[in-house]
Amino acid sequence: MSSSGRIAWRSPSNIAVVKYWGKKGFQLPGNSSVSMTLTDCFTETTIEYSQKIASSTPSFSFLFQGKKNIDFETKTGRFLEIAFRELHALKNFHLQIESSNSFPHSAGIASSASSISSLALCLCTINRLVSNTEDEEHFLRGVSHLARLGSGSACRSVYGGWVLWGETNGIINSSDDYAIPVSDFSSKIFSTWYDAILIVSSGIKQVKSSEGHKLMETNPYKEIKFKTGNLNAVKFLGALNSGNTELFRNIAEYEAMSLHAMFLTSDPSYILFRPETLQIIDKLIRFRYDTGLEYCFTLDAGPNIHILYPESSRDRLITFIKLELTPFCEDGRWIDDRIGNGPEQIQN
Ligand code: PMV
Repeated sequence: MSSSGRIAWRSPSNIAVVKYWGKKGFQLPGNSSVSMTLTDCFTETTIEYSQKIASSTPSFSFLFQGKKNIDFETKTGRFLEIAFRELHALKNFHLQIESSNSFPHSAGIASSASSISSLALCLCTINRLVSNTEDEEHFLRGVSHLARLGSGSACRSVYGGWVLWGETNGIINSSDDYAIPVSDFSSKIFSTWYDAILIVSSGIKQVKSSEGHKLMETNPYKEIKFKTGNLNAVKFLGALNSGNTELFRNIAEYEAMSLHAMFLTSDPSYILFRPETLQIIDKLIRFRYDTGLEYCFTLDAGPNIHILYPESSRDRLITFIKLELTPFCEDGRWIDDRIGNGPEQIQN
């Protein structure tokens, strides 16, 4: 049994194509979601753990990018409270946590998926070391379960490639409790896709994710969203399996638009896109019509745009982004990312 040590994980962000929005019970999804794990947008978390002389109340310290950050420290503390209920052995340790993101903190990219998943990976690894459990097979499933309790989208970042979260018709082992990897498709077309993230605004969101989920409870379109989300998850997995790019595109863009329709129809309603978001979408649709180039767009709960595309579109699309779309981005910023292999433990 280990009484002190240091564990570090790098965990990427992910972009959902079929979106989770609205909950059932405690942190359970209203509908299934399917996401692509990214490569270059990631969080690295290091935890130094040391056994306390007399086991007392849990204790931790937290630094973000080497500095104190009260907001992130509070969020981490809330997540640790949940984690200590699941991983009892950790209560006897002091945890010194340091976290940093590869993408600028103010990029307007949701960082909870990468930060909570990297934290959950570290905590479950330490728990395994200090309690001598060796359940390798279910290790990642346990991490995904724990990450979900902190942030729904984080449970999907535990795996690389394409990932499904939510109990889904016809998919063995699919569950509301944890995510599963679903990359074993007949077609390999979507296993190498890219994600160009256009930063329209890096400002703080008008409505936080947790508040938005809560507003879904009274949204009159909630049941329709859950039903179409579940149907789209099944159809989308079919598109990934058969390599159907048209179906992929239709579902991706419908899901993006209907996510924002949920914000518009909440009570009180709110708007998370910006005029520039719509200008970029308009340009993307026109350019695709004119050139026949393969790509589609999706949106997260914010104004930024993700363009998903294959290698064959890369050169022309990047030229188009640089010339025609970056003028609508904040300080011309965009991130060139792609599908990735999932988290990595960082050796000391
Ligand atoms: O993970 P949360 O609770 O912040 O919810 C995020 C939900 C979306 O990013 C809008 C969609 C998704 O499935 O990732």
